[in-house]
Amino acid sequence: MSLKNPVDRWGPVSQLLHWLIALLLLCLAVIGLSLDSLPKSPKYFWVYDLHKSTGLTVLALAVVRLGWRMYAGAPKWIPGLPTWQARLATVTHGLLYALIIAIPLSGWLFDSASGLRPLRWYGLVEMPKLIAPNAGIRELARSAHEWLFWVLALLVVIHAGAALYHHYFEGDATLRRMLPRRRQPLPAETPHDS
Ligand code: HEM
Ligand code: HEM
Repeated sequence: MSLKNPVDRWGPVSQLLHWLIALLLLCLAVIGLSLDSLPKSPKYFWVYDLHKSTGLTVLALAVVRLGWRMYAGAPKWIPGLPTWQARLATVTHGLLYALIIAIPLSGWLFDSASGLRPLRWYGLVEMPKLIAPNAGIRELARSAHEWLFWVLALLVVIHAGAALYHHYFEGDATLRRMLPRRRQPLPAETPHDS
């Protein structure tokens, strides 16, 4: 069985990366938005570190995903999809890719420009600082991190809304083909009326 994307659905690697990144983004949003309400005390630095390490993980997964997308291609659009929807989906998907790379990079830039403690990925690997401490860039990176996140949140609502619309109102395979294939019942399990 090929792991690449067949013409009519997303393959297991693309599906795994899609849903894993989506889940991690949800965790990052929850942790990120609660950072402000935490007392600025070393006791809570682990929460920042967890957010930063998981954000860097998303950055790495996003790069792998982009590479896999280039190598494994994409399925054809579902039959009968209007051209305007295909164009809109292409633009949205491109922006989503750009954001899942730009958001962690802006966070990393913010961390670097702050000149704070060393950045260790889950306490294991020391990550380089991208630039020397710089108050101007720090503020710019902080605003970019926050604003890009809200653009991502808006796009994800539109993107997920479109997938759910196709599933429930159009009844087509858009969402199903991004989900694991359901097991076909064996002949002995097929209901019969005898
Ligand atoms: C896709 C990955 C990421 C997402 C979705 C994300 C999301 C967020 C969100 C929603 C906030 C709260 C923004 C606010 O209301 O001010 C936040 C704050 C923060 N993030 Fe991230 N983040 C990501 C990656 C990173 C990375 C890789 C780092 C650092 C290496 C980082 C460092 C920070 C820091 C330090 C804050 C607190 C900012 C402040 O004190 O105002 N983030 N993040
Ligand atoms: C949370 C963050 C999410 C991000 C960053 C994201 C990103 C993406 C990207 C970039 C693609 C295009 C795949 C490619 O070209 O490689 C895609 C496809 C898809 N996404 Fe998401 N997605 C997210 C959440 C969701 C959610 C919550 C749903 C469903 C409720 C969903 C449903 C789909 C479906 C069905 C496709 C395939 C569309 C098609 O075959 O035409 N996504 N997603």
